Amino acid sequence: MKRGKLISCPAFTAAIILSATLLAPAAQKPPATITIKPSIWEKFSQPPVTFSHEKHVTEDKIACNKCHMIYKNGKNVWKVGDPVEKCEKCHNQPTTRQVFNLTPAQKKLNLELAYHNLCLTCHRKVKSEHPTANAPIACAGCHKPAPTK
Ligand code: HEC
Ligand code: HEC
Ligand code: HEC
Ligand code: HEC
Repeated sequence: MKRGKLISCPAFTAAIILSATLLAPAAQKPPATITIKPSIWEKFSQPPVTFSHEKHVTEDKIACNKCHMIYKNGKNVWKVGDPVEKCEKCHNQPTTRQVFNLTPAQKKLNLELAYHNLCLTCHRKVKSEHPTANAPIACAGCHKPAPTK
């Protein structure tokens, strides 16, 4: 086979284009669903939460920077293309006991409060505007017990 023939082969060209488009945004593309199990917690008192990007991003059109952040001078400057770090990288205070008694500085660093403040602040707002929305506020709505087999 001549080289010209190979390059013009439609399937071959398609394969190159496909792998290029798959590789380029791979670092950014959010997984459809993730079970969040931060490594700074050894034990969980609640069933781990499954979070759906598909639901929040694709269906509800929530912008990435509502949840992903890089702060500069007190402002979230995260934009598409910037790295997505795990929450626990920055909110690395692991206590899950009496979190409401922490100092304001500790509260900002506390991982449990980071999650609850992010998720619940928005869900409460959604529910107040659309009472029938499926944006859970009760513990078991997010901490779903594993199905019994
Ligand atoms: C809107 C979703 C949501 C709701 C509602 C919610 N949580 Fe959470 N919670 C999370 C997320 C996300 C995490 C961090 C990821 C994980 O633990 O899987 C978390 C973590 C925790 C943790 C620390 C990890 C552990 O299992 O020990 C505790 C304790 C907790 N939640 C208790 C509660 C309780 C009690 C309620 C009800 C009063 C509640 N949560 C309601 C989302 C929620
Ligand atoms: C409503 C909140 C929310 C929105 C909107 C959101 N994400 Fe996420 N994303 C999360 C949470 C929570 C995690 C898990 C973080 C952790 O494990 O510490 C996550 C994790 C990720 C990860 C890392 C996955 C891994 O396995 O480490 C990537 C990449 C990501 N998101 C990209 C995006 C992009 C791109 C967008 C916009 C198109 C987006 N996310 C929108 C909440 C959100
Ligand atoms: C690169 C570091 C970094 C990452 C990653 C990060 N945060 Fe933050 N977060 C910050 C900083 C810095 C602030 C601002 C604190 C302040 O107001 O001084 C903040 C603020 C917040 C606030 C508002 C705090 C308050 O009480 O005013 C919430 C809620 C929050 N983050 C949750 C999360 C969640 C959930 C994730 C993961 C999806 C996450 N953060 C990932 C650094 C980070
Ligand atoms: C900026 C707003 C916003 C934030 C932040 C947010 N959510 Fe939601 N969430 C929604 C909306 C809107 C819905 C869908 C309501 C509907 O379609 O009826 C929803 C639905 C859900 C549902 C039910 C549907 C499903 O996927 O099973 C779960 C569980 C959920 N969110 C978990 C979380 C967790 C965990 C976090 C924090 C990591 C979070 N959400 C952060 C707005 C938000």
